Amino acid sequence: MSHQGTKDRRKTIRDILALKGQTPIVCLTAYSAPMARAADEVCDIVLVGDSLGMVLYGMDSTVPVTLDMMMHHGRAVSRATEKALIVVDLPFGAYQESGAQAFRSAAYLMKETGAQAVKLEGGLEMTETVAFMTARGIPVMGHIGLQPQSVHAAGGYKVVGRSEEERSRIMTEALALQTAGAFAIVMECVDPDLADHVTQKLHIPTIGIGASAGCDGQILVSEDMTGLSGTRAPKFVKPYAALDQQVRDAVTQYAEEVRSRVFPAEEHVYRSSDAQKKIKILK
Ligand code: KIV
Repeated sequence: MSHQGTKDRRKTIRDILALKGQTPIVCLTAYSAPMARAADEVCDIVLVGDSLGMVLYGMDSTVPVTLDMMMHHGRAVSRATEKALIVVDLPFGAYQESGAQAFRSAAYLMKETGAQAVKLEGGLEMTETVAFMTARGIPVMGHIGLQPQSVHAAGGYKVVGRSEEERSRIMTEALALQTAGAFAIVMECVDPDLADHVTQKLHIPTIGIGASAGCDGQILVSEDMTGLSGTRAPKFVKPYAALDQQVRDAVTQYAEEVRSRVFPAEEHVYRSSDAQKKIKILK
């Protein structure tokens, strides 16, 4: 199905699968209604990523993020969108125990948020779980390479796929997740040649972040690419805007104007004698 054909309705998993080999799949994270509205206009997939723990809540990893946090932000994003496929991240601790635990968490998020799919991190150790979930009607997006939820176990954030052993592990994991029924796989900070090779071998789409332009799609954290995340963005983030500076400038000017009584000006107050303005408020 062409991109055009999905213009007036929400995209489905089938639409996303059909983009492989045709058009790059545009994905972006959103955690709030305003960002979701902007992304919905132009993106194929909006991911409610558990990166919200670091970006919005100032946590030092995604590990403390809870299912309820994902539920609340997932609801906001679903409400604000009409066209993009919505995927919600399963947070750390909500799926690693068993297929049954993962199914329960995913079903809860899908029912409560209206999202169409969930994403989880992990390779071979997660394939049984993914098979359990997909056999029971949960669309699952995989996530391999750098896995932020395992950052403590992995000993930090680093590029994956530089050794022969890692390369063959990533390829095996990607194929196993595909066999388990994943509809797409995020590859984070995977060596570009390896990412291209995996993309060619799979019949489901690969979504790159810090991986390769040859992936079937790309994803970035919206606050990183708009300059709102408040931290130095990694090399793979292109700064499309510097909103943090604009926000600082606006807040600074507001504070100055309140202190100097420049704000509020005459046009920002409601005078009871001004009937016209009063009518406008009521409208
Ligand atoms: O949590 C997140 O935002 C993600 C993307 C970076 C892929 O997993």
